Amino acid sequence: MIVNTELEQKGNLFPTKILHFKKDVDTFYFTAENDVVLQLRILRDSVLRFRYTTTGTFENDFSYAITKYASTGYNHLEIEEDEEKYTITTSKLICHIAKVNMRVKLYDAKDNTLINEDELGFHWEESYEFGGNVVKMSKTVNERESYFGLGDKPDHLNLKGKRFQNWVTDSYAYGKSTDPIYKAIPFYTGLHHNKAYGIFFDNTFRSYFDFAHERRNVTSFWAQGGEMNYYFIYGPQMQDVVENYTDLTGKPHQLPPLWALGFHQCKWSYYPESDVKEITSKFRELKIPCDAIYLDIDYMDGFRCFTWNKEHFPDPKRMVKELGDDGFKVVAIIDPGIKIDKEYSVFKEALDKDYFCKRADGPYMKGKVWPGECYFPDFTKPEVRDWWSGLFKELIEDVGIQGVWNDMNEPAVMEVPNKTFPDDVRHDYDGNPCSHRKAHNVYGMQMARATYQGLKKFNYPKRPFVITRAAYSGTQRYTSTWTGDNVATWEHLWIANVQAQRMAMSGFSFVGSDIGGFAEQPQGELFTRWVQLGIFHPFCRVHSSGDHGDQEPWAFDEDVTDVVRKFIELRYQLLPYLYTAFWNLVDHGTPLLKSLVMFDQEDHQTHYRTDEFIFGDKILVCPIQEPNAKGRRMYIPRGKWYNFWTDELVEGGKEKWVDAEIDSMPIFVKEGAVIPKFPVQQYVDEKQIDEVTLDIYYKEGKERSQLFDDAHDGYDYTKGRYSLRTFKLTGKSNELILQQHKEGKYITTYESFKLKIHGLPFEVKEIQLDNVIVPFSDMKMDETGAMFVDKNFSEIHIIG
Ligand code: GLC
Repeated sequence: MIVNTELEQKGNLFPTKILHFKKDVDTFYFTAENDVVLQLRILRDSVLRFRYTTTGTFENDFSYAITKYASTGYNHLEIEEDEEKYTITTSKLICHIAKVNMRVKLYDAKDNTLINEDELGFHWEESYEFGGNVVKMSKTVNERESYFGLGDKPDHLNLKGKRFQNWVTDSYAYGKSTDPIYKAIPFYTGLHHNKAYGIFFDNTFRSYFDFAHERRNVTSFWAQGGEMNYYFIYGPQMQDVVENYTDLTGKPHQLPPLWALGFHQCKWSYYPESDVKEITSKFRELKIPCDAIYLDIDYMDGFRCFTWNKEHFPDPKRMVKELGDDGFKVVAIIDPGIKIDKEYSVFKEALDKDYFCKRADGPYMKGKVWPGECYFPDFTKPEVRDWWSGLFKELIEDVGIQGVWNDMNEPAVMEVPNKTFPDDVRHDYDGNPCSHRKAHNVYGMQMARATYQGLKKFNYPKRPFVITRAAYSGTQRYTSTWTGDNVATWEHLWIANVQAQRMAMSGFSFVGSDIGGFAEQPQGELFTRWVQLGIFHPFCRVHSSGDHGDQEPWAFDEDVTDVVRKFIELRYQLLPYLYTAFWNLVDHGTPLLKSLVMFDQEDHQTHYRTDEFIFGDKILVCPIQEPNAKGRRMYIPRGKWYNFWTDELVEGGKEKWVDAEIDSMPIFVKEGAVIPKFPVQQYVDEKQIDEVTLDIYYKEGKERSQLFDDAHDGYDYTKGRYSLRTFKLTGKSNELILQQHKEGKYITTYESFKLKIHGLPFEVKEIQLDNVIVPFSDMKMDETGAMFVDKNFSEIHIIG
């Protein structure tokens, strides 16, 4: 294995002097004396693609990461040339390319701040062993620069001073700095001088990122093959960088069905059927909301995918129907390894059709997974993906399974030192045949994609729901994900928090951890604290290996059950808020979770904060991560925030002690926010929602909030049948005004809003509802003083 370091510069080769350039619409080609060509494409004013070849010609331009829906088009483009350099100017960026050595500098077009600068720039080492090059890029570190992103790295949010590797890896019981683990997302954001930019290195070979680790003033990235091919994405706001990266690599193709945002219960494994039913009944009996129950590998016949163990599950269709009648969706696991068994139809068919991966010299890729010796479909071949998606017909259409969980798709192979395929395995790579060195990082992604296609087809007109363990950039288009085999320790609670935030700032928001820990067993206190964090993760599932005892909300003691219930209920109340945030993700790539640095990058205190995060855009959360805590110190970002439990208004921009006994956790709401809430239900759409509560947090000034709703499943919303309400709040010393703007054709089931006002600094004397004065005494109110108003109000004035 070649592990390159920047210091090993003996074999490095560099571009020489640029001889000429050529322009082709939005693309420039700069050719050096030694045949190095830099292809620079202007995708948008703030998004540039840099691609280099050392041979004068480029490889076929193919990427699994970049979506065909990526937006292109710029407002301004100009090139100038002087003796030393070429200067390309867009409305957002100025790019210098030095004639002598091709090195690049990028400036903010508005104020000429230097944003990013090549150190050595593009260089490479020839690889005799594999052919091609080890391609490298090095950049100068700016004064006080911080680095974020890179997927699921279980490390401090700020990556400065560290080196990481991207190679999708099965990592049972990984630890705080284990690297690499399950995902390869070669995208990072740099931040300095209050300006953020992103770099997406779209290269699927094993790659490395070094953030001022080896040399204090240099950040570099390199890969063991392929092209130097990266996108430079300018903000200057970090959220814009992530949104633009998401625009390039894709937003989720559709909203999840709302039930997928409910609470999910999983274990390896619930079987037989009577055990599954016992669990689901217990949820209903104890009135703990839950929407999904999972079937891990033991539902299958000898771990053969797409089969059932008929002894344990004699009539899956009936079981799924009965669970469905009780409000449970069933999610089943499907792994990539297909058992070598001549009697097994999936195996036979794939063998006949030549769909399995092969070694370089012809034999099949044989490896051990749960079923024993297996062959593995080549998901990088379109025909194989089509076939795979077709295999879901029975499971989805006939049996009625509503979600599929793709696991072991790194691909994981047992009992071999590298835990995966050897390098020489061949892949189709959508008609660009290659070895596993290139296809490894996308194998799981392509499996999840094929699974997604199957669900989409056979679950239609319902929306697909897929979960994957392995991922490369772009996988967020098809599926949700979880963080793999964690451990029931307090440290892993910390890791789960960092990973979910980091994934969200890496364009993959639909993420959660195995709540409570997969390996080993948590104490009731740890489980409770983990559920408290977990309800603020987009994907909310308890899962455990089952080796060390039970992990259902009632497996500890009654106090645990009660607190867990209270927090899961809160999750269900907040569903319209989360669903609205999801709409914003699907619509323009806005991350569901925002680390404080993304929320307020100008406040330098946020650059090294890791624990606190914003759920959606208005709720600040900070998990308790230690035993016996009665509260904790946390950083409250700038602005004013209401304590969710007490309504106390606190001024941010500083650290603060926040009380949080075991039945509480630090939660704050941004002043001016309007938070929509559903009533508690035992599962999504258990009841028709007749009324939505709006928790209104007074602010002197203005704030905007939104509420999205639709049929909670299906595709009607894509044809305009959704309801998007924008609330504009304006607070004055003796008046609070709430204006509503409505959009979309969907008629919501609810008829009224229940307004609960928090922190009003005056006594209400009068209400004006759509320009009509309503004496306060005439308002319909409940015992807490919350007011009921028609959902279609345009403007309410609450006057003191
Ligand atoms: C892997 C998965 C885990 C699953 C187990 C059995 O370890 O990560 O979630 O329960 O396999 O399928």
